[in-house]
Amino acid sequence: MKFFLDTANLNELRTGAKWGIVDGVTTNPTLIAKEGKPIKEQIAAICDIIDGPISAEVVATESKAMIAEGSDLAKIHKNVVVKVPLTRDGIEACSALSKDGIRVNVTLCFSAAQALIAAKAGAYFISPFVGRLDDIGATGMDLIHQVVHIYQNYDFDTQVLAASLRGPLHVIDAALAGAHIGTLPFKVLDQLFNHPLTDKGLDQFLKDYNKVFAQK
Ligand code: E4P
Repeated sequence: MKFFLDTANLNELRTGAKWGIVDGVTTNPTLIAKEGKPIKEQIAAICDIIDGPISAEVVATESKAMIAEGSDLAKIHKNVVVKVPLTRDGIEACSALSKDGIRVNVTLCFSAAQALIAAKAGAYFISPFVGRLDDIGATGMDLIHQVVHIYQNYDFDTQVLAASLRGPLHVIDAALAGAHIGTLPFKVLDQLFNHPLTDKGLDQFLKDYNKVFAQK
């Protein structure tokens, strides 16, 4: 399973890069706005930190404008993947951009039917949102299982990017379901490290060692 960081924050990305476990980045207009810099500048800075697919989302809502904006975003760096929402216009833009050789991440996917449409439009990634479905009382993870299964049935090349993951259990469940990628907020990536027995065990190892070898 690949880990992407779901952030536009450069400090978080630098920490993840140091750990050597971050394969790519997803951003969205909310995350870009949080950092306060124009999208092209922020995405270029992200590309300098992480060498992997970096999703940059269009804010246009009409297909022609989405295609123009997406083509422009793709020019920032070879690693940029253009992100479009799962609307009729977004799917039209996905088809056109994909035919032009630009990789597209179709976002805001909340049903298996929508995921099928994105695959048929040549999406490079589909982003089903787990946490936001949980928020409305549905079981978001069921969607990841369905999409992985359907894509396998038909050998679609589109990769399943489990999004809106809110905690370690979401990450484990997405991995069990066979998602190709999980995109994680930095906090969730950090939480994956934690186990009390690791801390306790290390503490004991060091105490035992120091009892014999520590300088007095
Ligand atoms: C993915 O690309 C989205 O940016 C993200 O996962 C949304 O997560 P949220 O529902 O926690 O905002």
